[in-house]
Amino acid sequence: MKNIVILISGSGSNMAAIVRCAEREDWRKTYGAQVAAVISNRADAGGLAIARDHRIATEVVDHKRFASREAFDAELAAVVDRHQPALVVLAGFMRILTPAFVQRYPGRLLNIHPSLLPAFPGLHTHQRAIDMGCKFAGATVHQVTSELDHGPILAQTVVPVLPQDTAQALAARVLTQEHLIYPRAIAALLAGL
Ligand code: GAR
Repeated sequence: MKNIVILISGSGSNMAAIVRCAEREDWRKTYGAQVAAVISNRADAGGLAIARDHRIATEVVDHKRFASREAFDAELAAVVDRHQPALVVLAGFMRILTPAFVQRYPGRLLNIHPSLLPAFPGLHTHQRAIDMGCKFAGATVHQVTSELDHGPILAQTVVPVLPQDTAQALAARVLTQEHLIYPRAIAALLAGL
């Protein structure tokens, strides 16, 4: 079985979209794949309850317990590896990962970022797009490399930026599209594994 391990930090709506798609399309049968575990760096991440509702194993690795990024990432990798992942999927996982962690899963570590990369890597993407007068915004699924919010692009979605948009309104419009492209990009990768 090709195990998918999903890393979250918050509400986990992208994770939920992937899990629902995997159930709806029966990824076990179609790709011999399953969402094996959901791991959060925050014990209060709302997505953990959603994962449990779907009978998916959950784990918490609290970054605040570790003195350095390297120590956190070493423990995170140990927990991820227990689930023997074919793919490691970052879904709103809000920690910068060390090169050692990234290099452990070459081509198998994915991220979704709420901008049309290479525009607006980093935080506050929606406000920055509005401030720049962008007419379009979107989200990008990409393979993770050691450079933050870079790496080969697997999928993108484009939404209009509307006059009077707030960052919140734009984020919500983008998020609904994230929920469509992330499961599709993962399914396309699984088909080739
Ligand atoms: C999503 O918009 C995702 O693209 C973004 O956080 C949100 C998580 O929502 N990720 C990043 O900003 C990563 N740099 P979710 O927890 O409901 O999936």
